[in-house]
Amino acid sequence: MNREEILKKYEPTRENLLYILHDIQDSKNEKYLSEEDLVAVSRYLKISRSEVVGVATFYTMFSVKKRGQHIIRVCVSPPCQLMGGNTIFNYLRKTLGVKEGETTSDNMFTLESSSCLGVCAVAPAMMIDDQMFGNLTPEKIDEIITRYREKKNG
Ligand code: FES
Repeated sequence: MNREEILKKYEPTRENLLYILHDIQDSKNEKYLSEEDLVAVSRYLKISRSEVVGVATFYTMFSVKKRGQHIIRVCVSPPCQLMGGNTIFNYLRKTLGVKEGETTSDNMFTLESSSCLGVCAVAPAMMIDDQMFGNLTPEKIDEIITRYREKKNG
């Protein structure tokens, strides 16, 4: 679905701003909101561009920079940290060859941090897009990353 089709799905009211931004971002391979997207949304909802930009930059789920096809969010809140969250984050940085906020050279993954993902019982945890992964170990991460890469190639 392209941007115009997404906009038409919603009544042009401010209450729909988050849903619209979410759908537009999700529809794009680079998982981000471009300047054109922000302007189009502000025109459609008849609100200022700066209000739309404010929302798009306030919530960590949105990005105004191009990102990879999959967004990895690693929990950095204390319960996960206590269970080895730091090791997990370092391992991901090393495996993917990126720093926090960066995208892999094949544009497959962007690595981000997140506060509590709400699954502390299975700490340390991360999300890839909408899917949760817990009880993480370096071995488990290898498996998960390989699975995503195989999905792409298969
Ligand atoms: S602290 Fe990591 S999921 Fe809650």
